[in-house]
Amino acid sequence: MTEKRSSFSNRIGFVLAAAGSAVGLGNIWRFPYLAAKYGGGIFLLVYLILVLTFGFTLMITEIAIGRKTRLSCVEAYGALDSRFRFLGPLASLIPILIVPYYCVIGGWVMKYMVEFIAGNGLALAGDSYFSSFISVTASGFGNNPMPWFVVYILINAVIVLAGVNKGIENISKFMMPLLVILSVVISIYSLTLPGAMEGLKFYLLPDFSKLSISTILGAMGQMFYSMSLAMGIMITYGSYMKDEDNLEASVTQIQIFDTGIAMLAGLMIIPSVVAFNGGSAEGISAGPGLMFGVLPKVFAEMSGGSLIGAAFFILVFFAALTSSISLMETFVSIIQDRFHTGRTATIIGVTVFMLLMGTLSCLGYGPLSFIKLLGMEFLDFFDFFTNSVLMPIVALLSCILIGRVVGTQVIADEVTKVGYQFKRQRLFEVIMRYIAPVLLVIILLGEIAKYFGLISI
Ligand code: PFF
Repeated sequence: MTEKRSSFSNRIGFVLAAAGSAVGLGNIWRFPYLAAKYGGGIFLLVYLILVLTFGFTLMITEIAIGRKTRLSCVEAYGALDSRFRFLGPLASLIPILIVPYYCVIGGWVMKYMVEFIAGNGLALAGDSYFSSFISVTASGFGNNPMPWFVVYILINAVIVLAGVNKGIENISKFMMPLLVILSVVISIYSLTLPGAMEGLKFYLLPDFSKLSISTILGAMGQMFYSMSLAMGIMITYGSYMKDEDNLEASVTQIQIFDTGIAMLAGLMIIPSVVAFNGGSAEGISAGPGLMFGVLPKVFAEMSGGSLIGAAFFILVFFAALTSSISLMETFVSIIQDRFHTGRTATIIGVTVFMLLMGTLSCLGYGPLSFIKLLGMEFLDFFDFFTNSVLMPIVALLSCILIGRVVGTQVIADEVTKVGYQFKRQRLFEVIMRYIAPVLLVIILLGEIAKYFGLISI
């Protein structure tokens, strides 16, 4: 405990590291398919409102808790109030459940990257290519998702074992700007496809008749996921932040980064899905396969598409890798802190757990598709359970802890510690004390009622 805690050298370092954790598959793979699934423009609108209000409040709270207590999430809640000690392990459970299926998608990305680099990009544009890949019906070892998933996990394990996080961080500083530039180029191209304008309208113009509890729940889960909230990550990052750095301004910058990349990914993917659907936004099937099904088609139409496709999947691969490494690192440190196990043994144990749990998700669309949890395949279920159930519960309990038990002033004091102004303090207090808890309770009850068939929304 007397050991000096390491810290980020300055604010830019902190913002980039937090943004590096935040920007990942959630922005590029998950956001576009949820936006397409939950009504396009209305989802985008709800998402943006949530980011600016609720997301802002929760992120500033988590970073402030970390910086104030200088503890990681497992212990930080308990340090504020011992009755809330259980919240640490509960929040920690979320990355543990996410990382196995995150690596399944990492494996899909790696497969696509390798195929594009090998010059087989055109083959991926076929209509049923992706579905036969994930349902394990295509012949050939390389067309089975399992080896890709296993290799992806092993890459993560080796990096975490070598502890070369710094190297990865440096690579991502260079890769992230490239990803943005390439996404802009691909978005512009997508918008020139015939029928894409309908898609643009669907993505940007809200249709209020499509607003439902599911839209709000989906947008809220995505907000937690994308900004790495309600899972203790930002508490840990905050514990490394210097007292002199401006907390509120850092949160704003992380949010701009994260939301900007998600919006760009939507712009790249949604208009092109609609274009390939004959210019109609009705009946587009939007699920986890959206990015994999649609982008190869866009690249096939583009001149120089094979090269751009290869570059794109390399960048997505790195965005995924930086996030999965930080998820795995979190998982390893949770186990080490809790059970005082050695690092190598812990990494081996965590790897085996990820392989076993991830296999369920990896085969859940194929050989294991006869097993459904709440009517969902494994991957969809783990995604739903963490984002739509556990994260709202952790967020609700955090709001009660800060808003009702220790008081919002604790956070405000941390934000204004070295003389900075807390510009959105009123907004923060109202959301933390009144709006967020009520909204979260309504949403959770709505979801339960929907599940038991008491309401249909
Ligand atoms: N925020 C990441 C994404 O959007 O892909 C997911 C994530 C990465 C969550 C790392 C948590 C984390 F520690």
